[in-house]
Formats: sequence, C-alpha cells, structure tokens
Amino acid sequence: MKKVFKIIGYSFLGLLLMAGGFCAYVAAVGVPSYDPPTIPEVTVEKTPVRVARGEVIAQIQCMECHANNENRVTGKFLGEVPAIFGKLYSKNITQDNEKGIGKWTDGEIMYFLRTGLRRDGSYAPVMPQYPNMADEDLKSVVAWLRSDRFPVQASKEEGPESELSLVSKLLTHTLMKPLPYSPKLVALPDSNDPIALGRYTADAIGDCYSCHSGDLIDQDKVNPEKTKGYYGGGIEMLGDGGKPIATANLTFDEQTGIAKKYTKEQFIRMVQTGARPNGTLLRRPMSPRPMLSDRELGAIYEYLKTVPKIHNDIAKKNAELQSKEAPAEKATAGR
Ligand code: HEC
Ligand code: HEC
Repeated sequence: MKKVFKIIGYSFLGLLLMAGGFCAYVAAVGVPSYDPPTIPEVTVEKTPVRVARGEVIAQIQCMECHANNENRVTGKFLGEVPAIFGKLYSKNITQDNEKGIGKWTDGEIMYFLRTGLRRDGSYAPVMPQYPNMADEDLKSVVAWLRSDRFPVQASKEEGPESELSLVSKLLTHTLMKPLPYSPKLVALPDSNDPIALGRYTADAIGDCYSCHSGDLIDQDKVNPEKTKGYYGGGIEMLGDGGKPIATANLTFDEQTGIAKKYTKEQFIRMVQTGARPNGTLLRRPMSPRPMLSDRELGAIYEYLKTVPKIHNDIAKKNAELQSKEAPAEKATAGR
C-alpha cells in the first residue's frame, strides 16, 4: 500500500515540477511570437459611404477600447478587465507615423483585424479578432481610420505598456492564439433575411456574444455559436467603481432569459438608450448602442429567438456577487 502512495506522491510531485517548469518558461518568454505572415496587398478606396459605415463600426467596437477622454483613439486603460489578467492598455491607432498606425498598409490593418497578428509576427492577445466581419465592412473600418475624422487624426500621445499577468501569459500559450487567415471573401449578410442580419450584427459587428456567453476567454471566434454558453451570459466583469457584475442572459429561456421580459420594441429602445422599460439603467460595461438602427436591433431580437435557450439565473448570480462584496466593503469602512 505504502509503495502505491509513494508512487502517486512522486508522480504528483513530478506533475507539479512540470507545471512549475512551464510557468517559469512562460514567465520568461511572455507572449509567444509567430513567423512574419504573408499579407495580401489591398488598397482600400476611401469612399464617403465607407467612412460613414466604418465610423458606425468604430463606435461599436474600436472607440470603446481605444478612445481617451477627448475621444481620440490614442489608447486607454481597460478597467473592466478583471485584475487576474493584469493591467491592460490598448494602443494609439491614430494616423501618427511613429506612435500610431500611420505607416501600416491597408492590407496589414485588415490582416491584423482578422487574425491578431502584426506584420512582424507579434501577436496582440487582448485585441479582439474579427474573422466574420465582411470584407466590405473591414474596408469601411480602414477607410474610417484613414479619414479626416477627429478621433483618428495623428496624435503623439502614448499610454503605458500592458502588464500581462502570468495567467494571461499562460493563456497566450494555450487558449489565446492568432486566428488562421482565410483568403476566402467574407460576404455581407442578405439584408432581407432578418435572422442572417441579426446574427451578423450581433456576432460579427457587435461582438455581443463575447460578453454574453459562458466564458470570457474560452470562445470560438470562427464559429461563435459553438462558444460555451452562447448568449446565456453570466460572465463576471468589473462594472462601475470596480464592482463585480454578471452579464445578462439574452436567450429566450422563459424563466431566466429575455423571452418574457422585453418585447422587440422594448429591446430595441433599451439597447439604443441604455435604459430598461422600467427606467433602471444598464450598468457598465454594457454601453448603449445608439448607432445600431431599429432594423439591425430588431433583427438581433429575431435572431436571439433562434438561439438554443439556456437556463441561467443572472439575478441570483448578481445577488451572490454582491453578498461576496459586502464583507470587504465593511472591512474598509471600519478602518
Ligand atoms: C476589447 C478592447 C478592444 C477593442 C474593441 C478594439 N481593440 Fe484594438 N487593441 C486593443 C488592445 C488591448 C491592443 C494592444 C494589444 C497588444 O499590444 O498586445 C490593441 C491593439 C490594436 C492595434 C495594434 C496597434 C499597434 O501599434 O500595435 C490596432 C491596429 C487596433 N488595435 C485596431 C483596432 C480597431 C480598428 C478596432 C475596431 C474595429 C479595435 N482595435 C478594437 C483592444 C481593443
Ligand atoms: C463589454 C461587455 C458587453 C458587450 C460587448 C455587450 N454587453 Fe450587453 N450587457 C453587458 C452587461 C455587463 C450587462 C448587465 C447590465 C446590468 O445588469 O445592468 C448587459 C446587459 C444587456 C441587456 C439587458 C438584459 C436584461 O435582461 O436586462 C441587453 C438587452 C444587452 N446587454 C444587449 C446587448 C447587445 C445587443 C450587445 C451587442 C450589440 C451587447 N449587449 C454587448 C455586457 C456587454
């Protein structure tokens, strides 16, 4: 018997040493880099229609993470990311040649937005990838980045470098990876098909599932609907004042989803204005999306009806998060 325990003990020790060795390795190498990719040459024609569409997409996506207090995309601290991932900062993506992305080619920007890889093979782990955004919409984003709009005008401002925690670094050796580049054209959805339009707007443009699913990291970016807990919500994030908050269940589950809570009309107004029909406000990091049209949001509502229902009681989860918070608050108040 004893011998068996010894063997188990030794192999456990061995595993620990191996895990420890891996951690030390990861701590030393940091985020892995890759072979410099072959990037297709693209020149985007910057039409006013594209700039306008690019601006809408930027307001939903890029501004949220890259805009400073003056509404310039010079980069900022990402405060809603839980501390175990480290201190994360986005980057200057203005037209400045040195601090911004003035020297990137159109093709390099598109390649990066699809895969997460820069031309030198370095990988940007926290920056979302957009494998399902239509080519036409990606071109619109590029047109906006190159336009004369205020947020993208050259600025020399530069934020601190991100400090990735060991957990984040470990993730870049396991779950967080660049996406493969597919040369296939990604087409816009058929705008007469509300389900297709809704799915595209929610998954490829709004990236709604990335917060409203079961896990912040373990997601299927290429096939979002295969993501664990797709639209079932419950991811713990940091809201205003660093208070923990769980993301909402957007499936049509009768008890815990939105089926009985909101009509289509109410859903549209709520997402556009950030206020629920009863007047309570949606809390950060959920931000209002006034740039999404009634048609697009109505289509998202129709699409959500088709998503497999998930029973996930978010009100209960939020109550638990609050009661976990409360003792800590008391302790600081008592000091
Ligand atoms: C969830 C937050 C988030 C969103 C949304 C986001 N970014 Fe980023 N982005 C980042 C972070 C963080 C980095 C820095 C990553 C790094 O250095 O590893 C970054 C880096 C970049 C870079 C590389 C800059 C450089 O100098 O290396 C570009 C280009 C970029 N983002 C463009 C965009 C565009 C365009 C959009 C909108 C379509 C966008 N980002 C949306 C967080 C975000
Ligand atoms: C950065 C993360 C994030 C993203 C991206 C996001 N949400 Fe949310 N959303 C949240 C959080 C957190 C809540 C909970 C807010 C609260 O409880 O006050 C929420 C709440 C909601 C609610 C309220 C549901 C209810 O039961 O009251 C709706 C509707 C919603 N989001 C729709 C969307 C749509 C549509 C998109 C994409 C366009 C989206 N969200 C993108 C984080 C996010």
